[in-house]
Amino acid sequence: MGFGFKYHVPGTHLPARYYLLVIALLVAFHVLLSATHEAYGRATSISQITPAWVTRNTPWSVSELSSNPFAWKNLIGDDYPSEGHLPQVGDANATFVILARNYELKDLIKTLKQMEDRFNHKYHYPYVFLNDVPFTREFKEWTSNIVSSKVHYGVIPHDHWHQPPDIDEAKATANRNKMVKDNVIYGGSVSYRNMCRFNSGFFYRHEILQQYRYYWRIEPGVDFFCDVDEDPFVYLRDNNKVYGFTISLYEFEQTVPTLWKTTKEFIKEHPQYVSEENAMGFLSDDGGDSYNMCHFWSNFEIADMDFWRSEAYMKYFEYLESKGGFYYERWGDAPVHSLGVSLFARKDQIHFFHDIGYRHNPFQHCPQGDVHRKGKCWCSPADTINAAAGRINANGQLTSYSCTERFTKLVH
Ligand SMILES: *[C@@H]1O[C@H](CO)[C@@H](O)[C@H](O)[C@H]1NC(C)=O
Repeated sequence: MGFGFKYHVPGTHLPARYYLLVIALLVAFHVLLSATHEAYGRATSISQITPAWVTRNTPWSVSELSSNPFAWKNLIGDDYPSEGHLPQVGDANATFVILARNYELKDLIKTLKQMEDRFNHKYHYPYVFLNDVPFTREFKEWTSNIVSSKVHYGVIPHDHWHQPPDIDEAKATANRNKMVKDNVIYGGSVSYRNMCRFNSGFFYRHEILQQYRYYWRIEPGVDFFCDVDEDPFVYLRDNNKVYGFTISLYEFEQTVPTLWKTTKEFIKEHPQYVSEENAMGFLSDDGGDSYNMCHFWSNFEIADMDFWRSEAYMKYFEYLESKGGFYYERWGDAPVHSLGVSLFARKDQIHFFHDIGYRHNPFQHCPQGDVHRKGKCWCSPADTINAAAGRINANGQLTSYSCTERFTKLVH
């Protein structure tokens, strides 16, 4: 006797009733599942969930490009013309340069939107995106859609990115391990070193960039706080300047222990490259004997690639490269660019873009007073690395990471 017997309706055959019930339920479920599956299938079909611009514009075909009134002539390699991309209005020979990873897309889109809204919607300067691996279709579709101008996508040549074969790997590894032990930021990273070396000496040699002179370097995730009403490329060109920055600060000494010594050796061998009107006073507090670690923060740069392409800087980079410090130490592109431009250019060729509000974690430059108002900036004026007040305390000690006041005193 089981519990079932208790509920048994007298006069019926229990097993037969159960079979009928099970079959009925199965049929009902089958009908229900098919119906919901179809509905689900319709709701999630590609055409329903993909933004219109993706389906409308892809796949790119040659015939589609050539019949597209916005198609661009003289495409190089991996260019990506798109509907709604407008011809350049800005007068300078200039481009944005963005080194990015595919996975940085979300941060980059935010940054690009700000750049367009604050500046490029009026000028339509092109963008050059570079990566050590090919960009994904998703990356290209999103980035080309968010900007108003022509875009190029380039892969970095292998030798421009990877550690050269003449680097002694055992020595490099030992030094990296020591930096990890000493808690040096990115101390153990080879790819960070690849990036620093690429930005120091190779980006301006990329095939796509040959056609341009001025560039504005942008990193995924940075913020632009203010309207940029005046064209900074035209400003550099018309004022014969070669380098512009917004933030300057002090380098971690452990990343560049022999950079200054190496630079002094180079200068001794090639004194003709050093400008008589150099900005040594920005780099050194003792007339060039030692390096004070000041550098322009190179994640933001508006500059002249022809300066990096000049004999003086190219020879300087080659010399640094021959010493291996990009891998045995962790020479950053910020101090390398800063030393190069401060020594081989005139100090009046370097410009502080004080009116461009900018943030790259963890620091920001926020314009003050009238400039803040005029630029419709959204940063807090109190939060700025370049604040003039409180830099040096009563004991003469530094209370800020910024070197910018040192620079402005030097050039005024
Ligand atoms: C832009 O600048 C590059 C580098 O100086 C140069 O090769 C190119 O001819 C220039 N293009 C124009 C249109 O002036």
